[in-house]
Amino acid sequence: MRLFVAVRLPAVIRQTLHGLHGGIQGARWVEKDNLHLTLRFIGEANSGQLRDIDSELSEIDFHPFDLVLSGLGTFERRQRVHMLWAGFDTSPSLTDLRDRVEAAVMRAGFGPDGRKFKAHVTMARFRHGTRPDIGMYLQANNILATGIFRVDEFALYRSHLNHGGAKYEPLFTYAAGPSNC
Ligand code: 2AM
Repeated sequence: MRLFVAVRLPAVIRQTLHGLHGGIQGARWVEKDNLHLTLRFIGEANSGQLRDIDSELSEIDFHPFDLVLSGLGTFERRQRVHMLWAGFDTSPSLTDLRDRVEAAVMRAGFGPDGRKFKAHVTMARFRHGTRPDIGMYLQANNILATGIFRVDEFALYRSHLNHGGAKYEPLFTYAAGPSNC
């Protein structure tokens, strides 16, 4: 099974982001229900590894914290825009949680994540070969009505890939301890 660890976004934030869908040719928009903030992509794991990951993630102790959406941006690959994302203001609490998740996944026997962590919510992906002109879109939409939300849990997800797109199934949820503010 294909696993990843993520923060599910509250419905109101998903609604805000969903409201920005449309207006870029060749974009495959992420469904409203699927919008999330990935902390760690794990990839293929068997049921024994799943138990080990769950047991390590259960040990993570963190306090609730707030995240603020800060705007839209793109990732490029070989000088081509391949993804549109919504990003967040820098958050030491998020970095700390991400580091703990990374360490837990490694204790469960997985290698380090080779990618540098850039907290984002993927909004749209672009078909191979398209050259989306998204300058106008970014200009028109980059005044994100600021969304702030409290992170008080994260989850281990299973990703089901099928023809209709991906379906993300939360397997286990990990709640924050009491707030320290
Ligand atoms: P992305 O949104 O930046 O593509 C489920 O696939 C989640 O895991 C997505 O949010 C995806 O991030 C993330 N992810 C990270 N590395 C991945 C990889 N190598 N393959 C698929 N998804 C990956």
